[in-house]
Order: sequence, then structure tokens, then C-alpha cells
Amino acid sequence: MADTPRTATLTLDGKTYELPIHSPTVGPDVIDIRKLYAQAGVFTYDPGFTSTAACDSTITYIDGDIGELLYRGYPIEQLADKSHYLEVCYLLLYGELPTPEEAEKFETLVTRHTMVHEQMHMFFRGFRRDAHPMATMVGVVGAMSAFYHDSTDITDEYQREVASIRMIAKLPTIAAMAYKYSIGQPFVYPRNDLDYASNFLRMCFSVPAEEYEVDPILSRAMDRIFTLHADHEQNASTSTVRLAGSSGANPFACVAAGIACLWGPAHGGANQACLEMLREIGTVDRIPEFIARAKDKDDPFRLMGFGHRVYKNFDPRAKVMKESADEVLGLLGIENNETLKVAKELERIALEDPYFIDKKLYPNVDFYSGIILDAMGFPTSMFTPIFAMSRTVGWIAQWKEMIADPQLKIGRPRQLYMGDTARDYIDVEKR
Ligand code: SDX
Repeated sequence: MADTPRTATLTLDGKTYELPIHSPTVGPDVIDIRKLYAQAGVFTYDPGFTSTAACDSTITYIDGDIGELLYRGYPIEQLADKSHYLEVCYLLLYGELPTPEEAEKFETLVTRHTMVHEQMHMFFRGFRRDAHPMATMVGVVGAMSAFYHDSTDITDEYQREVASIRMIAKLPTIAAMAYKYSIGQPFVYPRNDLDYASNFLRMCFSVPAEEYEVDPILSRAMDRIFTLHADHEQNASTSTVRLAGSSGANPFACVAAGIACLWGPAHGGANQACLEMLREIGTVDRIPEFIARAKDKDDPFRLMGFGHRVYKNFDPRAKVMKESADEVLGLLGIENNETLKVAKELERIALEDPYFIDKKLYPNVDFYSGIILDAMGFPTSMFTPIFAMSRTVGWIAQWKEMIADPQLKIGRPRQLYMGDTARDYIDVEKR
């Protein structure tokens, strides 16, 4: 006999409601409340979605209690060590690691779509030179739907695939163009004889006046940073992409919305804010002052790069990033990097402090990434654009999964209304 479906019982105003429970392959069960309002006339209430599953997904799994992150079941530590970003892109998009033939075909396809429409160069000219590269990226990625009309019909699977490849291929070019534009240097075209990370470094750092050789240490570190940022379940920017996509908006507009959300300092903007904080601290003797401020309820200051909605243990990405920081700075001969010293001492002190221990606040992905990017020569304003271009594949994989879901409905949350009840208009002379 089939197992009796498990249910949760809600008792409200003397009535009881049986709510179905669904079990995942791994992680917490969910209580299905889709019929709750129709049956009981009440909403659930969860601002910030601390206890709400907005969708089902097969892409990325996080266990915040043990610090586990899996892309299609593969641990992030193994992928960061053994794989490379375009292989991780294939895994996130199609669910399996590619065969050598599949990898060759995919990487050639991406490589051959790294150039942007030449007219987009003119689009950049409309921005002020001192615009933050994230502002430029939001605008230019959103404008891609004005240049690539032949891949905006989301009902056409082929067009969805073309738009996906175009964004994965062109985001590094657009990010590099945003950087070059902000420093007044000429755009650098991508090259098909370079791998993804090397191409990005060359588009950022080469100048027409001399040859540019990509440092293999930097390209390996860059590729690993891309992998560590590729996807992360239903975070704020991914949820933004899903919500935008649920209305049928074109994929370029959805990814532009994700970039806009990622920019916030509580989310992807934290890597820039974290390095600026570490520089403001300056030396290890000033750390106690900042720890005190972070603990002070009356001070809005927070330790940037610390804490996470899901991780109540180490963010596994932060551990890999910390090892990579040691390796890259060592190989670049920047061992006595004061910022890295401050970061390590800040982490040590914070992790011994009852405030951080009690609230389970650990370094997150943004705590060490900025130190590596800074050592590689990027200005802090490029940290979040690099996060955005890395996360583009995750946004696209999640968007594709949602669009292909036969249960797709437009996302439309309700509210707990605390405003005025109905009242009549008052003519101005009577107010
Ligand atoms: C990313 O969601 C994702 O997966 C995001 C991400 C991804 O890959 O997509 O992992 C990328 O965004 C990483 C997070 C980067 N942001 C920061 O580093 C900014 C600093 N951290 C925070 O502001 C905060 O920790 C959040 C936003 C990351 C998480 O906030 P939550 O889950 O809403 O937790 P909260 O704000 O309710 O904090 C819980 C308590 C509070 O104290 P009480 O009100 O309970 O007394 O911890 C405190 C907070 O004041 N707290 C901090 C703190 N973070 C939380 N106190 C000092 N410093 C901090 N960094």
C-alpha cells in the first residue's frame, strides 16, 4: 500500500487543516501552503523569507549548519580544486560534468560569442567616465535585449539557449569594457586563443602600447574565484532573477535585475565594502575598536564579509578563498600584505568573541575575495562586477529551470496590511 502522505496539521479558530509535507533529496522538509489562503483565508508571514522555500530546484544545495555547498551534488571544494569555470558552467546548466567532446563543443561555443555588437561601444559613451562599473553593467546588460532581438522569445527553447550562451560569453567582455571605460583606456577585444579567465584579465589589463602576457598564477586564481561565485541557491539576486523571469521578461532584463540586486552592500557589494573596511581598520591594533562598533546595537556598522543568512558555520567558499589568498599573495611576493594580516587577525579575534560565536557569524565568501582581487590589480569598484559576471551562469541556470517548469506561475507575494481602512476623500478647503 502506498505510504500515507505526511501532513502538518494547522488548527485555527476551531478548524483543522491538513497541509501536505514534501521531502527533499537532502535538507529540510517543506510544508505546502499553496492552498492555505483558499482553505483558511489566512496568509503566512515571513518578511526576508527566513523560513520560506520559494521553489523547488535541482541545481545547488547548501547546508548552513555544516558549511556544505554542492553544485549538482559536487562539493565546491572539489570543483574549486579539480574543475574550471566553464566546466562548472556546463555542470550548472545541464546537470552533469561534460564528456571531453561536450566540453570542447561548449567551450568553443562560448569562446566564439565573447565579442559584443560593435554598436554597444557607442552605448558606453553615454555614461560618465566616473560611473561605477556596476551602474554601467546594469545598463548595458539590460540593453542587450535591444541588440539581440533574435534571442528574447522565452517560449522558444533554442532562443533561450542562445541568450544563455551570449550572456555567459559576453559578461566578461562587458565587465572589462566597464572597467576600461572608467579609467579612460581603450576597449580591448577578446581573443579566441585564450581561456575564459585569461581572456578577462587581458581585456582588463592589456594596453595597446605593449604586449600583455597573462600570468598563469593570476588566471588560475581568477578562474577559481569565478567558480566559487557561480551559484548559491535562492539568494537575493537569484530570487530577483526568478521573480523577474516569472512575468515572462526577457533573459537579458532578468539578469540586469539580478545585477542591480547583487550591488547592495548586504549582498554582492560586500566584497568592495569589506576591503574598504579592512583598509579603514588599517592595522591590527585598531581591530578591537571596530569589533566594538560591530557589536554596538546603536551603531549601524557591521563587519563586512561576516555573517550569512544560511551559513551558521564556515562558508566553505571563504575557506577556499583564504587558502587562495595565501597562495596568490605568496606567489606574487606580497607576503607582508598588511590588509591580509588585518583580515586574518580580525577573523581570529571575532571567532573568539562571544557575540560572534553566539550569533554564529563567520567569514563569508566576500571576506577574502577582495584581498585577492586587490593583489591582482583590480580597483575595489571592480569587485562586485566580477561577482556579477561569475554569478551570471547561476542566474541563467536557475532562470532556465524556472521557465521550463510546467508549474510556472508569476510570483506575486501578499502582505500584512497595516494601513488605513477605507475612508472618504476630503476636499482641500475642508482639510
Ligand atoms: C552574500 O544569500 C546568499 O547566499 C548571499 C551570498 C551568495 O553567494 O549569493 O552568499 C553572497 O551576499 C554574502 C553576504 C555578504 N554580506 C555581508 O558580508 C554584509 C555583512 N553581513 C550582514 O549584513 C548579514 O550577516 C547578512 C545580510 C549577510 C545576513 O543577514 P541576516 O541573515 O538577515 O541576519 P541578521 O541581519 O538578522 O543578523 C542576525 C544577527 C543580528 O543581531 P540581532 O538583531 O539578532 O541582535 O547578527 C548580527 C545582526 O545585528 N549580525 C552582525 C553581522 N551580521 C549579522 N553583526 C555584526 N556584523 C555583521 N556582519
